[in-house]
Amino acid sequence: MRIGLYGGTFNPPHLGHMAAARSVAQALELDRLILMPDNIPPHKPLPEGSATPVQRLEMTQVMADRLSNGQTRFVASDLELRREGRSYTAHTLEELRRAHPEDELWLLMGTDMFLTLHQWYHPELICKYAHIAAFGRTQAGEEGFAEQTARLEREFGAVVRVIPLPERFVVSSTQLRDALRAGGGQELLDQGVYGCILRHGLYGVGKDLKRLSLEDLRAASCSMVKARRLPHIRGTETEAALLARRWGASEELARKAAILHDCTKYWSAEEQLQSCEKYGIVLDQMERSMPPLLHAVTGAQVARSVFGMPEEVCQAIRSHTTGRPGMGLLEKILYIADYAEPSRSYAWCERLRELVVEDLDAAVLYGLNVTIAHNRDRGNPIHPRTLETREWLLAEGVREEPVG
Ligand SMILES: [Fe+2]
Ligand SMILES: [Fe+2]
Repeated sequence: MRIGLYGGTFNPPHLGHMAAARSVAQALELDRLILMPDNIPPHKPLPEGSATPVQRLEMTQVMADRLSNGQTRFVASDLELRREGRSYTAHTLEELRRAHPEDELWLLMGTDMFLTLHQWYHPELICKYAHIAAFGRTQAGEEGFAEQTARLEREFGAVVRVIPLPERFVVSSTQLRDALRAGGGQELLDQGVYGCILRHGLYGVGKDLKRLSLEDLRAASCSMVKARRLPHIRGTETEAALLARRWGASEELARKAAILHDCTKYWSAEEQLQSCEKYGIVLDQMERSMPPLLHAVTGAQVARSVFGMPEEVCQAIRSHTTGRPGMGLLEKILYIADYAEPSRSYAWCERLRELVVEDLDAAVLYGLNVTIAHNRDRGNPIHPRTLETREWLLAEGVREEPVG
């Protein structure tokens, strides 16, 4: 296996880091690239107002998730953060080498680091444990690269490779933090990383989370979920907006409900249960035994207490997995949007999309029946609220379509 290590303060991780990581992973055909935030960097003390180590790790995890592709798995590591005192690359590489005795290790670094590598703590060990991948602005690197390469080869028997970096992504972290403090900088960040900064109020970005614009709300939600969920969330928002216009609901509230509806989807069962306990939410037997359903409960609570959403939005999020007898317009819209959004490709979605334009209630009933049939086929339990919602719609005289 070919493994790369890319360390940095990642304060914050930005598009420059991502472009470098992507270019090197591709050029070296890495199987894995470890992104490792430094603990206390030997070269530079962290500036005031920086993110905490845990927050830098969280942002690095978001970056790793966004970068992963079919060829390279990008992972964030807290190895240096867990270590007491100063962090030295030689120690980190020694530990990595021990864990991967047979693998090819590459240490990634930018110009400043590369040109001073001979002055680092035990450069001979660094060059013994790993090959060096230096990224520069040209094919040959930058001024001094050839000289430095020769020196490292001569003095430490290093194996060096220079990887050209896409010019447009050369970003200064100091300038980026200044830009963030002044209300800009988003264009230099992945949306999810910016969402972390927003949610934690880092680098002087002190926006009121209860009054975020739709764009900022999207970033905040994006920072809480995995990349593979994003097309679904975007699709749900588009569909919810469409249905709100069709059925005369508030488009803005429909969008907000859709943006946040799955925001706690990736919380562990333990986190879900802890959050319910914290907010005094009483769970029924079924919810307790089926943690995947809990994201509707905790998502509604986060929408309320963190993002200050109106009750209508919270209720729609609360009902989006099971439905609810007596559900209102926004609840129905989110329930259907979650099912009928464009990235879903089940055979019955087509019929649901047609039906919802003609008759919203019939579409909800159809959706409930699909859920019931799907779970029955798999021998899964069906939440009683789903069955009750179906009974309620039938009692209201809603048209029932057979599920094909
Ligand atoms: Fe969901
Ligand atoms: Fe969803």
